[in-house]
Amino acid sequence: MSARHVLQSSTVDEFQSALDALTKSCVAFKFADPHVVPPVHMDREALRSAAEVTDAGVELDTVIARFADEALPACLNFSAPTFVAHPDAGNSTAGILGGIANVFLQQNLSSFDYSPAATVLETELLRTIRRVIGYPVNDGVSALSAGGGVVFGGAGANFSCLLAAREHLKRRLVAEGKVFDPRRTRVLANRPFSHFSMRRSLFMLGLGNRDLSPAQRAEAGLEEECLCEVASSHFRIDADDLERKIEAVRERGEEIMCIFAVAGDSRFMAFDDLTRLADIAERHQLWLHVDACEGGQVLFSPRRRHLMAGIDRASSISLDPHKVLLVPYNISLFFLRDPQWLTYFSGDPTSLISQDEMSLGGYTPAVNSKSFISLKLLFMLQHWGWDRLAAEIDRRHELARLAAGWIEEQPALRLINPDVSHNAVAFMHIPEGIDDAKRLNRLNQAIHERLNMSTPFFVHACPSRDDEARVRADRGSVFTLRMMFGNPLTNWAIVRECLENVVKIGYELATDPLWQSE
Ligand SMILES: Cc1ncc(COP(=O)(O)O)c(C=O)c1O
Repeated sequence: MSARHVLQSSTVDEFQSALDALTKSCVAFKFADPHVVPPVHMDREALRSAAEVTDAGVELDTVIARFADEALPACLNFSAPTFVAHPDAGNSTAGILGGIANVFLQQNLSSFDYSPAATVLETELLRTIRRVIGYPVNDGVSALSAGGGVVFGGAGANFSCLLAAREHLKRRLVAEGKVFDPRRTRVLANRPFSHFSMRRSLFMLGLGNRDLSPAQRAEAGLEEECLCEVASSHFRIDADDLERKIEAVRERGEEIMCIFAVAGDSRFMAFDDLTRLADIAERHQLWLHVDACEGGQVLFSPRRRHLMAGIDRASSISLDPHKVLLVPYNISLFFLRDPQWLTYFSGDPTSLISQDEMSLGGYTPAVNSKSFISLKLLFMLQHWGWDRLAAEIDRRHELARLAAGWIEEQPALRLINPDVSHNAVAFMHIPEGIDDAKRLNRLNQAIHERLNMSTPFFVHACPSRDDEARVRADRGSVFTLRMMFGNPLTNWAIVRECLENVVKIGYELATDPLWQSE
């Protein structure tokens, strides 16, 4: 009875026609005309009933039709050229096809036996990206030669690298005759401009003293957070303060697990000075981790990669292709400079699944079964080639520069990151006569809502420290609008029209007596 529900020769025709219907509606979703970004049709009740599961099940074409009619129109379309909120659209043709092929393949890269060809291809791909980073690549073909791994998100990539840093520290301490103490182990970072996955990882790694009462901490002379906050300067780590903090931590008799640097922060895509940080890390023999989930894209552009000069000296790096390399979710990467450090993650040799030297699963923290999610990245790189990809990375910066230039000419707009490092432009609407930060924040929040809900444009907005004191002399929190240009279909005319809408809406709201009286 259930044989009709699996793919086999007798169901091929039904499967093929359902597949055709599905891809047709998905493609239509991608470039519906006009490109509508916000859910055009969000009927919660209809969606809830579209999630219903019945005892008898329904026909395949009903499953597909229900999805196309109820779910698709309510989905956010990252591929719309007017979607300028996040750094990527995931719309490379080859990337999408690689994602589709993966579902058919059903390989399990936890073990070489279950994924022979996929393991070899993924290992080779990781070695290729190591070369792009500038990390050493050895001749071996084992999983260790990948010197990193494929995971499901930047959060997991950061976690993997921080786990390696912790294990590295443990080994160093043992060599010095000391014992690792998670309560007195610190991480140095520019907290306002580090992604929250860093703090979550540190918590998962058992660091810090949040579990103790204030009295217990005071008695033991412990800090609540393992994070030692380094001063921020122009959204970047203040290297002089970093040196001071290293001394201060060591004077307290505490250990440092790593310096957590950022290449392209989540809000403004500012890049830490990696060369300077690598100098400091090497001098103090510290692990330097670089979260390059946003900014790692510049490694693929000969013109832009200067922003990450020194990356080859970092101990570890996390990259997020699903955020910046035109491929659909999910795929993220982590790399360790010395491939041998992967052995810190080696699994239990008595495990059920054979952990031979070819199996990638033995070296990927918190991941066992994993499909060939890297196939979409391989497809995309093969299709685009290095030159076209470099041109795309450069195009993003060019658009960001144009947007910043236009904003600077508008009396009502103000850039929050006047030095646009790569592909993020943050700004606020500041009407004449309003200088109260709270009111300005509320106004920009209202602009954001109205723009995203009532125009075809979709921008991101977030509260942030005003590190350049563009609005607040005390560098306090501002609610900033933010654009990014990761979609090759977004052009300057679209960006300008979006900005014109911001000005118009801002003016309407600021002069609206209702809003003014609030
Ligand atoms: C700088 C940075 N690091 C890490 C992450 C986490 O990545 P993911 O969402 O892929 O887990 C993000 C996500 O926005 C990020 O911006």
